[in-house]
Amino acid sequence: MKVLKSKKTLIDYVERQREMGKKIGFAPTMGALHRGHLSLYKAAKKENDEVISSIFVNPTQFNNPDDFQKYPKTLEKDLELLEKAGVDAVYVPNVEEMYPDGLNSKKYDFDGLENEMEGKYRPGHFDGVGTIVEELFRQVQPHNAYFGEKDYQQLAIIKKMIEKTKLPVKIHGVPTLREEDGLAMSSRNVRLTETQRKEATIIYETLTKVKEWFKVISLEEIKQKVTDIFRNSNFELEYFVIADEETLKEANAIDEDKKYRAFIVAYADTVRLIDNMHLG
Ligand code: PAF
Repeated sequence: MKVLKSKKTLIDYVERQREMGKKIGFAPTMGALHRGHLSLYKAAKKENDEVISSIFVNPTQFNNPDDFQKYPKTLEKDLELLEKAGVDAVYVPNVEEMYPDGLNSKKYDFDGLENEMEGKYRPGHFDGVGTIVEELFRQVQPHNAYFGEKDYQQLAIIKKMIEKTKLPVKIHGVPTLREEDGLAMSSRNVRLTETQRKEATIIYETLTKVKEWFKVISLEEIKQKVTDIFRNSNFELEYFVIADEETLKEANAIDEDKKYRAFIVAYADTVRLIDNMHLG
């Protein structure tokens, strides 16, 4: 596996692959890799001749400096995992390479997707994500790019960014990989204490209940039940939303022609966990 540390080595490498007529699949990451990431590479390997990943903890998408400082950094282990996963090359740029003009994000209009859910609680987050993903796409020039459905709003926003910028990249969503007890795999899970880790199944269990309750009881009743579940737990519910899968706007009534998804964000002390589930 090639480890590409500068923009120049990356661009030379990509140019060679493209000259050979190879189809490039790309999965950007912030490192601290886990089995959830492996499913991105697996999907990429099926549909491309060359799989490239990147590891870059993007400062502009963290609205909480403490979260940025504490974001796990496990480069050696990540490189081993990437090698085992059969990734052909990994781009590990430094901050200067990605932000030559200083740590500023572009301002995007994602047709309102950016104002829902995460947008309300993490101001500027999606401008940071859009800026880094657009820049990575411009440098890596992939044909296909892969993102986890765990960050469903991010996936929707990246699709919108492609629609707006007209970059020739096809975006693929990959279903969330879960631990045996249902907890969505996340780089943040390693920050949970043993007790918190056991109790963290509350998120998946609640989403599963919401799926059962959906269309059986009213949206208000579901909301009340979810609020009560978290009130009686050690987790602090930041938000619970049932939203239209396309607009991400909170549903006030159910339209049979639309698809809906439930979203939960909750804190275990300072660790922020996020998950979502499609409602049948
Ligand atoms: O999902 C992530 O890991 C990050 O938001 C991404 C897409 C790599 C951009 O920094």
